[in-house]
Amino acid sequence: MKKILLATTTVAAITALALSGCAGGREEAPEAGGDGGFAADSLIGVALPDKTSENWVLAGGLFEDGLKEAGFEYDVQYAGASNAVKDQQDQISAMVTNGAKVIIIGAKDGGQLGTQVQAAKDSGAIVIAYDRLIVDTENVDYYVAFDNFKVGELQGEALLEGLAAKFPDKKTYNIELFSGSSDDSNAPVFFDGAMKVLQPKIDDGTLVVVSGQTDIKQTATAGWKPENAQSRAETLLQGSYSGKDLDGVLSPNDTLARAIITAVKSDGRDVPVVTGQDSEVESVKSIMAGEQYSTINKDTRLLVAQAIEMAQTLQKGEEIATNSDEYNNGVKVVPAFLLDPVIVTKENAADAYKNDPKLSPLTK
Ligand code: BGC
Repeated sequence: MKKILLATTTVAAITALALSGCAGGREEAPEAGGDGGFAADSLIGVALPDKTSENWVLAGGLFEDGLKEAGFEYDVQYAGASNAVKDQQDQISAMVTNGAKVIIIGAKDGGQLGTQVQAAKDSGAIVIAYDRLIVDTENVDYYVAFDNFKVGELQGEALLEGLAAKFPDKKTYNIELFSGSSDDSNAPVFFDGAMKVLQPKIDDGTLVVVSGQTDIKQTATAGWKPENAQSRAETLLQGSYSGKDLDGVLSPNDTLARAIITAVKSDGRDVPVVTGQDSEVESVKSIMAGEQYSTINKDTRLLVAQAIEMAQTLQKGEEIATNSDEYNNGVKVVPAFLLDPVIVTKENAADAYKNDPKLSPLTK
């Protein structure tokens, strides 16, 4: 199974959930996930991590608007920037206490929510992991995300293509690898996907990681913070690149890509081929200006809509459609609905964003 997440701690347990009767003289809600749902105006909780990239910022507003339109009561929370793990734990506990029927979680630290999702299960709530898988627990019912492993593969492929296009005369390329934050369960999945493509080229000498740092522990970017990526890039350039070109960088997302580009430029170098992810406004501009090479389109509007559709399906007591059994959270395979990520370079940007009113004008 290709998408097994490395389990670091331990577990709990999930099933279909007997929901209690509803307040206000409504008819008693039948079991969710089985032959019935719950009241149409029930509380849906959404717990999002800190706003480390534009996708998270967008998701909050989209969830509020979409859940309201669907007729639900809703509570959308972000973990604060400091003490975010505890913040998110407390927010989820409050959602459970307030009787949320579905809790949609974009985990700050997917390995530290065991107690809270156990409480959710005990209360009869259904837990949907959103974008980031919650690991080491049986108490996560569904996962909705863009296919993260595929994101990594696309990044690896884009790096190879970008290098071949930019340096037609070179036979080998100097590169560096960056990965995401180690508390994000997505980070190793992106990295593993990319390395599936890049490792054979490192092994045959086509790609040279000049620093020698190929282990995810060495490449990680704590907190997905751009300042951490920037300072690591500066350190690598100073320590390993005197008299050498840096041709390409695997960057796991756009925020970090721009930070790496800043470091390279301030070292007086040409911008290498740098990958990204998220289709952030500044990165799309950078791609159109010929700096950042690629990004990934993971349309937040589609992902939020899919998560809300799942909540509506559960409300009606119908069966959730899933399309993947490849995401194992260390304890169980979490039934997942995965959306398809799209690689974007300058070449296909106009087409990729043609239905996006914010990004489309940037590609003209
Ligand atoms: C998301 C990415 C995002 C990163 C940092 C990941 O879990 O999948 O889209 O760039 O977190 O916020």
